[in-house]
Amino acid sequence: MHLELSQCVLRPWHAEDVGSLARHANNRNIWRNVRDRFPHPYTLEAAREWIQYVEENENSQELNYAIEVAGEAVGGIGLIPGHDIDRRSAEIGYWLSEQFWGRGIITEAVRGLTDYAFTNFDLCRIWAGVFEWNVGSMRVLEKAGFSREGVLRKAATKDGQTIDVILFALVRE
Ligand SMILES: CC(C)(COP(=O)(O)OP(=O)(O)OC[C@H]1O[C@@H](n2cnc3c(N)ncnc32)[C@H](O)[C@@H]1OP(=O)(O)O)[C@@H](O)C(=O)NCCC(=O)NCCS
Repeated sequence: MHLELSQCVLRPWHAEDVGSLARHANNRNIWRNVRDRFPHPYTLEAAREWIQYVEENENSQELNYAIEVAGEAVGGIGLIPGHDIDRRSAEIGYWLSEQFWGRGIITEAVRGLTDYAFTNFDLCRIWAGVFEWNVGSMRVLEKAGFSREGVLRKAATKDGQTIDVILFALVRE
């Protein structure tokens, strides 16, 4: 996939992205809002491992794209499809370099990827779980048309605290 949007491009990760990935992802304010699978500090070695993981899983159903701004990979966005009875659902995840926050880039990326996924795959539900303190991400999802479905109480343990996760979903009727 290569999706040209007005402020960014969504495209596959390349080996040459290692340096920009490590530079932009190495941020506690990003780490604090995502799964612990996302390392901190985000070293060059971690960036190499991520790009190798994406390349090895190219033919799996997981979709992982770089968010490119001005020719540089400055964020990531992806979809993890469910299995078994969840097979028509997918989880969306995303992060962006802090220097680009507040410009509408992720809202545009979420809209772009969800449109692409609903058009090209047999999905009827795309969902996200947002930590209780992540008001910015909740706003992104609302702007992208997701509905707040409920609160998963004490569902995540992050940064030393056990917190609620707010469930958002976009459903194709
Ligand atoms: C969340 C994140 C992806 C948002 O990216 P972004 O490109 O800045 O998002 P956008 O500019 O499209 O929209 C952000 C919206 O949240 C609002 N916002 C941000 N922080 C806020 C806060 N603390 N309180 C209220 N609103 C806030 C912005 O004002 C904007 O809304 P607006 O357009 O109505 O003004 C980015 O901050 C990030 O990478 N965070 C760390 C990783 C993360 O949280 N990933 C998602 C896990 S669920």
